[in-house]
Amino acid sequence: MDRLNEIKKPLEREFSEYTEFIKRVLHSDDPFVSGIMDYIISSHGKGIRPLLVFLCAGIHSKAGIGKRSYLAAMLVEMIHNASLIHDDVVDGSDTRHGKPTVHSKWNSRVSVLSGDYILARSYVIGMRSAQYDIVSYITAGIAELVEGELIQSELNEKRVVTRQSYLDIIFKKTATLIGVSSGSGAMSAGANPTEVGLARQIGLNLGMAFQIKDDILDYAPSEQTGKSSCADLREGKVTLPLIAILERCGKTECQTIMDKVKAAGSNPELIEEISAFVHKEGGIEAAKAVMNLYLDAARSVIRTYPESTYRHSLELLCDYIGDREK
Ligand code: FPP
Ligand code: MG
Repeated sequence: MDRLNEIKKPLEREFSEYTEFIKRVLHSDDPFVSGIMDYIISSHGKGIRPLLVFLCAGIHSKAGIGKRSYLAAMLVEMIHNASLIHDDVVDGSDTRHGKPTVHSKWNSRVSVLSGDYILARSYVIGMRSAQYDIVSYITAGIAELVEGELIQSELNEKRVVTRQSYLDIIFKKTATLIGVSSGSGAMSAGANPTEVGLARQIGLNLGMAFQIKDDILDYAPSEQTGKSSCADLREGKVTLPLIAILERCGKTECQTIMDKVKAAGSNPELIEEISAFVHKEGGIEAAKAVMNLYLDAARSVIRTYPESTYRHSLELLCDYIGDREK
């Protein structure tokens, strides 16, 4: 069995109900809009955010996983989906999850508006549910996520590439929403604020590890990942594998490398050269070491929970995030 399916095994029923719920949330009577939404639903990702919601709800729930958890799972995944649809426009990415992105299948106008539609539909359901604690806890993450993207765009432009700025950006753009997923899962099951805070720590650490792995996988071939290879470099985005090498270089060498990064956008040979350099100089291993620190931090929180199938799945999820090949 696929590793992710094994992790989701204790939640088979919940995931099947959740999938039906998403279809209802994104329903439109208009055939054009419903065609786009069907495409988006069919090109779904790994579902790590709803998985974290359900696992942390399961750990804290005394009476099974209830409606509030489905609401939380839907909200985090819809915010995530909308952000990726917009992100693929911002980054000019043509493929995601092995399929054409919305903007390459239609165009960037359809893409931006589809992301807006998904956000709007999820707000409607969120507000109608009147579960304001969950809705406000989760939507607070949106501003942070967008802030992360804005800071990233500004610092990329200025070629500011320090480990600290990289970590700050990925905390906002990725870790926050994954932290909100585990935290809202606990909250949806009636956990107290301390327990919610602890659950959030799991997602925050997993989120840091997830994005570092994503940036490592950017250096892998597109046939493996289902995304364009070296997309970050082509955009001039310097991530941890290269930052770890730059930290060991003198000023002149850094300048030479950064000049190449600057010129790389329009030059496939330069992209190939930088990518080979990152592999040869140990940038991938250095980034993996940092990722493992975050995975260990998540594991140490998970170990504070009593043993259960949900806790076991959380542990497997940590391994999966570290080992995944796409
Ligand atoms: C993926 O990063 C992108 C994000 C984590 C966030 C993108 C957010 C926005 C574009 C702001 C709009 C937000 C909303 C809610 C509408 P990446 O580009 O490094 O990863 P990738 O390789 O998966 O593209
Ligand atoms: Mg992107």
